[in-house]
Amino acid sequence: MSKKQTTNSSADQSRRKFVKNSALVLGGLSIVPRHVLGKGFTPPSDKLNIAAIGAGGKGQSDIINAWVNGANNVTALCDVDFSRAKAAADKFPDAKKFADFRVMFDQMGKDIDAVTISSPDHTHAIAAMAAMQLGKHVYVQKPLTHNIREARMLTEAARKYRVVSQMGNQGASNPGQTQMMEWFNKGLIGKVSTVYIWTNRPVWPQGIPVPTDKPAMPESMSKENWDLFIGPAQYVDYHPLYHPFKWRGWWNFGTGALGDMGCHLIDPAFRVLGLGYPTEVECSVGSTFLKDWTPEYVPEGCPTSSNVQLKFPATKKNASPVTMIWTDGGIRPFHPDLVPASDPLGDNDSSNGVIMIGTKGVMTCGTYGLVPKVYLKNGTKLEMPKPPLPDPSKPAPVTIPEYAHQKSWTEACKAGFDSKEHKALTSSFDYSGPLTETVLMGNLAIRSYNLRRPAANNRFEFYGRQKLLWDGTNMRITNFEDANQFVGREYREGWKLA
Ligand SMILES: NC(=O)c1ccc[n+]([C@@H]2O[C@H](COP(=O)([O-])OP(=O)(O)OC[C@H]3O[C@@H](n4cnc5c(N)ncnc54)[C@H](O)[C@@H]3O)[C@@H](O)[C@H]2O)c1
Repeated sequence: MSKKQTTNSSADQSRRKFVKNSALVLGGLSIVPRHVLGKGFTPPSDKLNIAAIGAGGKGQSDIINAWVNGANNVTALCDVDFSRAKAAADKFPDAKKFADFRVMFDQMGKDIDAVTISSPDHTHAIAAMAAMQLGKHVYVQKPLTHNIREARMLTEAARKYRVVSQMGNQGASNPGQTQMMEWFNKGLIGKVSTVYIWTNRPVWPQGIPVPTDKPAMPESMSKENWDLFIGPAQYVDYHPLYHPFKWRGWWNFGTGALGDMGCHLIDPAFRVLGLGYPTEVECSVGSTFLKDWTPEYVPEGCPTSSNVQLKFPATKKNASPVTMIWTDGGIRPFHPDLVPASDPLGDNDSSNGVIMIGTKGVMTCGTYGLVPKVYLKNGTKLEMPKPPLPDPSKPAPVTIPEYAHQKSWTEACKAGFDSKEHKALTSSFDYSGPLTETVLMGNLAIRSYNLRRPAANNRFEFYGRQKLLWDGTNMRITNFEDANQFVGREYREGWKLA
């Protein structure tokens, strides 16, 4: 255990034991009846005990949203840097604090029913697998994992260990996605053959040289906790270009623009068209020039921009093969003819979005499935009906954050594996695993594109710049063996995903 990690007293009684023991004292009652507690209270036995792995950044809202205003208990918070997780620690003062999730599970395993995992991408799989193997339900931030093999392993593990899972692409629960599904299922836009998806990411330093200086570790981070931050990744010294937040731009930890936004933006098309594994992927990436005519070569870093094309076969829902064209770095597609010249594309400021081109019309939306629209060849434009204005004479309606994506997961955890609540989840791993694999196919292509070997005249040959053919079932690129190194990753000694 690290020196900055809070130690837990072994004398601490778990809430569960406390409730059970109290109930015994009360004469064998194991459930405190609702009427005893009063309206609006959840009996302790109806509450989930939830722990957070990564409680700063997005982890803060994930654990607060999963707490659901006291409908659940937050029993433990695990973070390697509590200066980032201070707000969560203040909000849940009774939660025990840890830096190492393995220690947390060892010490508090029995007092944790479910875990939110909102650490950087490279630790999602290791933490989620450890939780699932102990039978804990898991809410894992997007992208589900750092690489394709991990996504497949987590998808299978959720079934094997019979846990309720949800990936943190909250837009999956946005009514905008339901609306798009209805429009498509009615046949309004016909068969879709082409999908354009774009994002303004990266909005953090990316495509820059690997830092070589060694700034001092901040007060809030010990050497031991930095080692925990690295976890299964390759060891590198601490640098503020990695933690917090900027880890996104480095393959060792993050998954670049695609990993950041792909699970939000590819989701609507993947869901509406019922897509599965892609069969082909091809890409090109932007270069950074600090010297004339000499692009920087930084295989450790994600590129400043990329253009990725994925191909999918026809599906039961969409009787046409689909070409999906992804662009990032702020490059966006042009207005399809059916979209009026001054209409924004996707988001209201056009910075991210999705366009599906169908035989009878075009369907578009922004991030999280917001602002869905349909433009039909007969001139009709459809938008989602605006919700009625609240009645000022009535109490303001309670809004549930992030379209109740975390809340519905907690309810499904209580209902159990395979329950109707579980089946109704919008991003359990059965769905979000294959979605994540698809997103990460783009990264496999980008990394393959950067493979190079020495050639004549002090030059290099970029021998991975080709179309890649994918056998999704067997997780293999079939026409270029070297690309297969990016299906999974090597784990640092002491960290194994099994
Ligand atoms: N769904 C969304 O809208 C959304 C938005 C932002 C981020 N995210 C996702 O959330 C995850 C975290 O992103 P972020 O922006 O919050 O990053 P961040 O760096 O700001 O925060 C990560 C937190 O995890 C902690 N941490 C790092 N390694 C850890 C470890 N091994 N164990 C425990 N805690 C650890 C950090 O100290 C920090 O508090 C990423 O996967 C990201 O893609 C999702």
